Amino acid sequence: MAVLKSVETVLLRHPDAGRDHLIPILQEVQAADGYLSKAAITRVGQELHLPASKIFGVATFYNMFRFQPKGKYHVMLCRGTACHVKGSKRALDMVTKVLKLQPGETSRDGLFSLEVVACMGACGLAPVVNINGQFYAKVTPMKLQKILDECRAQESSHAEQ
Ligand code: FES
Repeated sequence: MAVLKSVETVLLRHPDAGRDHLIPILQEVQAADGYLSKAAITRVGQELHLPASKIFGVATFYNMFRFQPKGKYHVMLCRGTACHVKGSKRALDMVTKVLKLQPGETSRDGLFSLEVVACMGACGLAPVVNINGQFYAKVTPMKLQKILDECRAQESSHAEQ
């Protein structure tokens, strides 16, 4: 299984890992797989002698970890101070409503996933949204709706070909 292969690779880099290595190990697993699967969490738990439920509890405390694979369109919405001041909350409310997703979730069809981040280092463009690496500046709920519609339209045009 490819996911577990990457976990084994990470664990090999931490030969004498103790519980204090948990967060760095989880970060590396997520960097390799894009998320933390149940199988990966269980395997890390075996290695560190920690129950999976305990690891899951710790990992959910940090909002950097996700437990579902990313969608085809990964929407990163900035909730840092500059973006907040410029109205990112309204954009977030709109996205969660339209996509029926909470931060950290992926849509059932695998098309969209949503992540909320603290600052993307582009405060001058606030509020900022990044989809698959592309930045969208001064995003309003209406503008964001249009961007999401374009993603959907792109998908249906691919499906028709
Ligand atoms: S606060 Fe949003 S990019 Fe910095």
